[in-house]
Amino acid sequence: MIDKKMNIMGSEVVDGYECKPKQLDPNRPIMHYKTLLYVCEDKRCKGVSKVKDKAKELRQIIKNLNLETGEQRIKISRSLCQGACRYKQVVQINENTKANGYEPNNGIWLNATHIYDTAKWEELFLALKENKDLNNFEQIKMKVF
Ligand code: FES
Repeated sequence: MIDKKMNIMGSEVVDGYECKPKQLDPNRPIMHYKTLLYVCEDKRCKGVSKVKDKAKELRQIIKNLNLETGEQRIKISRSLCQGACRYKQVVQINENTKANGYEPNNGIWLNATHIYDTAKWEELFLALKENKDLNNFEQIKMKVF
């Protein structure tokens, strides 16, 4: 008997991939998320990070907190340069306001996340889950020029 590897949406996964489904259904909805974090993994941000695969590490922390599925789901996506390299390692927070309405942490950009340890990431993810303010997290300021 061959063990089939399944992703969290219940689709069989292509050999050698973490979650790529074997059967693509163009009409299948994407999985709901409450919060989507874009983690910059372009050269200048990645260069300061001690972790080789930051997105993978963060997904594991989210999984440990049981936030990888469901209404409070936090999704991690990698990004290329976000044009804010001096604040490396940049993380941009996007809340799903279409599904949930106003979310106070939508549009925040985090500064210097390369210094976060696991406990700091857990603190962030739990704060996002509960829509707490992020005063304990250094944010990148924005200004209209
Ligand atoms: S390389 Fe990350 S913001 Fe430019």
